[in-house]
Amino acid sequence: MKVLVVGSGGREHAIAWKLTNCNNVDSVFVAPGNPGTKSCAENVAIAADDIPSLLEFARRKEIDITIVGPEKPLVDGIVDRFREASLAIVGPTASAARLEGSKAFAKDFMKKYGVPTATYKTFSRSQYQEATAFLDAHEIPVVIKASGLAAGKGAVVCATRREAEETLRQMLHDRAFGSASDEVVIEEFMVGEEASVFALCDGESYVLFSPAQDHKQIGEGDTGPNTGGMGAYAPASVVTEQVLGRVRKEIIDPVLEGMSKEGCPFTGFLFVGLMLTEVGPKVVEFNCRLGDPETQVILPLLETNFADLLRKSATENLNMSSIDFHDGNAACVVMASGGYPGSYRKGVEITGLEEANSRPDTIVFQAGTANEDGRLVTAGGRVLNVVGTGTSLSDALTKAYSGIETINFERAVYRRDIGKKGLKRQAAGIDH
Ligand code: AMP
Ligand code: GLY
Repeated sequence: MKVLVVGSGGREHAIAWKLTNCNNVDSVFVAPGNPGTKSCAENVAIAADDIPSLLEFARRKEIDITIVGPEKPLVDGIVDRFREASLAIVGPTASAARLEGSKAFAKDFMKKYGVPTATYKTFSRSQYQEATAFLDAHEIPVVIKASGLAAGKGAVVCATRREAEETLRQMLHDRAFGSASDEVVIEEFMVGEEASVFALCDGESYVLFSPAQDHKQIGEGDTGPNTGGMGAYAPASVVTEQVLGRVRKEIIDPVLEGMSKEGCPFTGFLFVGLMLTEVGPKVVEFNCRLGDPETQVILPLLETNFADLLRKSATENLNMSSIDFHDGNAACVVMASGGYPGSYRKGVEITGLEEANSRPDTIVFQAGTANEDGRLVTAGGRVLNVVGTGTSLSDALTKAYSGIETINFERAVYRRDIGKKGLKRQAAGIDH
């Protein structure tokens, strides 16, 4: 099988690595990839959102299956274009990708099909006055979200009324996110622990991967601004079998049924961002792709042939498929450039990667890196994902952190408390 992976982050490095290790995969191409994907696959110099060039490449190379990492090409209709050309691709159509691309669509859809989520109201630019009045009467904290894609920065949890008013003004009035905030969702603040669940879907059937937990904030103890994700671990024991049963019945089943009824069956990865509240699991958001850094911990645990699962998803053939996982745990610690998620330096030399990769059960997935005059240098905010696997969460974390100790680049930052909630849960004996 020849596979094309679209994207250039740590998620795509993990996908390419996993596919390279499938016995029925002959070649893996990554567009555009990064120095990490170059070490295990073949990089192709095509941008992830250049749909016509990706299509031409897939045709010319007779790619058997394409998997898309980031949301933008999905929302832009890459799956529609590939299907029109009879090329197999994993992901939702543009219409189904609205679950991520339009928060207003996702919220209205959840309401219509009874999927548990925060109560909300949507406002367009012309309704600024109504939105202000609604906000005045709303309890604090409140969450305000730009409806469109805003690179993970479009949701603001407002702890004070002043902050809420200011956020609303910036989004709806000042168009802080361009057209993404032409419509905003004002919603109830939910209290609970968050977790990520991934379903690979074929329109009707699905398989579930190990639930994972992300660490969105830059600072230890979940403080400071949100980032793309500073670390993850899987399985996330907070998602017990019982919780997972509810997620299937109350969320994933009605979503797949509802999307079919709406005429846009969901294919590809449905990423359910969950809040585990006192009254049960509720949806924080949907994404239409795999998570980053969650992928870096769920794929090392997957035992079933990943390429087979992808092929089945693209050919409406997941019904009755089983999915198996290795025993044990995986943990990922992100090393970022000092200053991220604000401004940071690029081009800083990275050393010690080979040493980390040579350690048992340790693998480094690269994200914001580049090759410059034969040296590996930083090229982004999130630079490296150091992943450890082990028989327990603490074993996996020990391996990830000892991998980090061998790696150096100036002003590197990482959180020292990845997996802490999971460890606490174990210590308290509330693990299942
Ligand atoms: P989103 O972009 O919708 O995933 O939101 C980003 C982050 O904001 C989430 O991971 C949560 O931590 C937080 N958040 C979003 N919506 C809510 C909500 N209704 N209640 C509490 N926290 C939320
Ligand atoms: N880790 C969260 C995301 O990929 O959006």
